[in-house]
Amino acid sequence: MTLTEASGADGAPRPASTAPIHGEHDAMRNRLLEGKRAIVTGAGSGIGRAIAALFHAHGAQVVLADLDAASAQAAAQALDAARCHGRQADVASEASVRALVESTVARLGGIDVLVNCAGVPQRYTVIEALEEAHWERILGVNAKSVFLTCKHAVPHMKRQGGGTIVNIGSIVGVRPKPGQNAYCASKAAVIALSQSLALELACDGIRVNVVNPGAAETPMLAGFVDPARTPLEEAKRSFASNIPMGALIQPDDVAEAVLYLASPLSRQVTGAVFNVDGGRGV
Ligand SMILES: NC(=O)c1ccc[n+]([C@@H]2O[C@H](COP(=O)([O-])OP(=O)(O)OC[C@H]3O[C@@H](n4cnc5c(N)ncnc54)[C@H](O)[C@@H]3O)[C@@H](O)[C@H]2O)c1
Repeated sequence: MTLTEASGADGAPRPASTAPIHGEHDAMRNRLLEGKRAIVTGAGSGIGRAIAALFHAHGAQVVLADLDAASAQAAAQALDAARCHGRQADVASEASVRALVESTVARLGGIDVLVNCAGVPQRYTVIEALEEAHWERILGVNAKSVFLTCKHAVPHMKRQGGGTIVNIGSIVGVRPKPGQNAYCASKAAVIALSQSLALELACDGIRVNVVNPGAAETPMLAGFVDPARTPLEEAKRSFASNIPMGALIQPDDVAEAVLYLASPLSRQVTGAVFNVDGGRGV
């Protein structure tokens, strides 16, 4: 049924502008996170920055957290100094995550939405050359971070009677690649931890979902490439050629999926693993 086909109780056609169901639906779609309080990690760049911008456009108050304080603050100021706040945080450090959550609750009064997007990439490394410290850094930033932010944010969500958590995995968490051993393991951990938490927290009204991007056009992409072996532009063409839809993923493509999972539109969705990958994971 189109808008102009909507009819009232008398069966007469109703003008599109007064069709109540569609009208409310459109209004809801325009402001999916009205009044919600969100933390987005890794929000100084790439996908996290796009998520923060879309959340802001949908009415949320957003704390943009990043290891790089300057980029977090610049991203927040570019949006709206009244509803967006940029803040330094190291998601691999419990003390830093605790301070991030506490300062957010002090500033906004609670946390309705948590998005774990901060991450670090891995260049092709054979397993015998992988240093323990490098493994720990990748697992710490990409996976332990989800444990830490959930540990500290969930008590506030429980007190409020609910919340939504969206964790950014990667398609290589379900379809691994050679030489990205630690990165693939970290993203598989994000998926398993998210699904375990989805079950643990369902009775508290807290939903936990994962978005798995495919190769995305962000500053991180260069971090997967060894420029001595492959120039970046050639590597980008190679990444895109492995995507059935033929193009690199854009940050906004991922942000739209995160918005759906963070919003009431997905109120019965938890434990989902949503690939935004142009079909690479099929
Ligand atoms: N770009 C891709 O091809 C791709 C593909 C699949 C998944 N992902 C995932 O998407 C997420 C976002 O990546 P992106 O492509 O936007 O990368 P990006 O490099 O543009 O952004 C990542 C951000 O995380 C921040 N960060 C790094 N370590 C941090 C820490 N310890 N504490 C807080 N912030 C930290 C960085 O400063 C940066 O601003 C990551 O989890 C990444 O693994 C990216």
